[in-house]
Amino acid sequence: MTDILDRLRSAVGDAHVLTADAEVAAFVVDWTGTYAGRALAVVRPGSTAEVADVVAACHEAGVAIVPQGGNTGLVGGGVPDPSGEEVVLSLGRMRSVRDVDPVAGTITVDAGVVLADLHTAAEAVDRLFPMSLGSEGSCTIGGNLATNAGGTAVLRYGMTRELVLGLEVVLPDGRVWDGLRGLRKDNTGYDLTQLFVGSEGTLGVITGAVLRLFPATPRHATAWVAVPSVDAAVSLLGLAQSRAGAHLSTFEIANRQAVDLVLAHLPGASDPISEPSDWYVLVELAGAATEDGLDDALEAILGDAVEAGLAADAAIAGSPAQRTALWALREGISEAQKVEGATLKHDVTLPIASLATWAADMVPVLEEVLPGIRPVTYGHVGDGNLHYNISAPVGGDDALLAAAPDLSRAIYDSVAAGRGSISAEHGLGRSKAVAGSSYKSGVEVDLMRALKHALDPRGLMNPGVLLP
Ligand code: FAD
Ligand code: MLT
Ligand code: ZN
Repeated sequence: MTDILDRLRSAVGDAHVLTADAEVAAFVVDWTGTYAGRALAVVRPGSTAEVADVVAACHEAGVAIVPQGGNTGLVGGGVPDPSGEEVVLSLGRMRSVRDVDPVAGTITVDAGVVLADLHTAAEAVDRLFPMSLGSEGSCTIGGNLATNAGGTAVLRYGMTRELVLGLEVVLPDGRVWDGLRGLRKDNTGYDLTQLFVGSEGTLGVITGAVLRLFPATPRHATAWVAVPSVDAAVSLLGLAQSRAGAHLSTFEIANRQAVDLVLAHLPGASDPISEPSDWYVLVELAGAATEDGLDDALEAILGDAVEAGLAADAAIAGSPAQRTALWALREGISEAQKVEGATLKHDVTLPIASLATWAADMVPVLEEVLPGIRPVTYGHVGDGNLHYNISAPVGGDDALLAAAPDLSRAIYDSVAAGRGSISAEHGLGRSKAVAGSSYKSGVEVDLMRALKHALDPRGLMNPGVLLP
């Protein structure tokens, strides 16, 4: 083992190979606190050439690698297993914006660029990089690509997959694939870029990316709306789509349990609607600087929604500060639920038309397994994606969630029966690798294994993640 550590030190410099417990601590435990591993070392290369050197050294020595960006992943895919034999390869030092071309609508970045910094770089040339996540202050574009992240702008701009034009990847044997082409049109064979998107670090290390930029949307009209049911929320979505067209950029849902957690745990959070409701939606219209009238359009939509019984009340943001406060009610949910104790996370998609029935039908099923259980239900209803994140009963022991396999299995079975997906946006990681394969056909799993074997025959890239 000393040999490989020496080799890693010569690749990146002594200061960037961390082995002391205190130094590696933040890299071996995931955001949820559920996955805590050990690492042979945490290596922090500063360039693509250094990543290639590290990966080649590990390949020669037969040492497994766990790529890591901001370590905000929610399925345990970015932290090592407990063996202490894996190397964590952190992209955290690779934070350069390599090129911005506002006319072509492209930005080329290192994989370690933090999503919020990417937003700032796009804004500096009067453009928008639309991906928006609660974790954007810490997550990296490499992690977003590796997980094909979703977020609150998918409704208008699509998943990460739709925002990328080209990649630079260090392959498991240390060779570098330079696919950093910003072309919109390139029909020259298999789409290798898309192969690496959503591969969760199991096929190679993403070191750079060319991403799409969009026209800036500095004008916003934002509302927090009390709705009687998921059904009503879905009807309101249809109304907003018809009336606001392409201006509709966000349509998020949260149940009362979720909002109560934010109000209890997020400093400064307050309820903008006095009468409590079972469900809420955050609706936002966004437009260019020259587009007036978004507030009027939103007000008219909501007025009609109240008349039609789709909404009970609404608070429209009257200032940027109020807009931030409304967004905090939605974006603060994950953090607030974490304060409450352990969370059993489920990240599911179903056809939008069946979401309401599915959510209602799940409650008695879960109550039977664990009376008093709290489904904190929220997420990207406009994409058919609910975060069905479960907390133990109030005052109950988190250990009660040890019934988890039954709970999760009941949820996954019902999602599969509804032709949905058990992971809409967070990936499979370690937490859902087994379940992920069990809901795919044998043909699909065989194809995935064949791809994995073709690129990583020695199985050294993030073993145990995505494929069991
Ligand atoms: P990490 O956690 O470091 O890694 C995630 C996975 O990607 C791991 O498998 C890792 O091995 C791999 N990986 C990381 N970097 C690379 C690389 N350069 N090359 C190859 N593989 C790599 N996700 C959503 O989709 N939508 C949301 O709305 C959302 N909201 C969130 C809110 C909060 C508060 C938190 C904590 C998380 C949220 N997430 C969300 C999950 C998470 O932020 C995303 O999955 C994010 O994309 C992970 O980025 P990261 O840099 O932190 O990756
Ligand atoms: C979000 O949309 O806030 C996250 O993806 C949900 C989660 O933390 O489970
Ligand atoms: Zn989400």
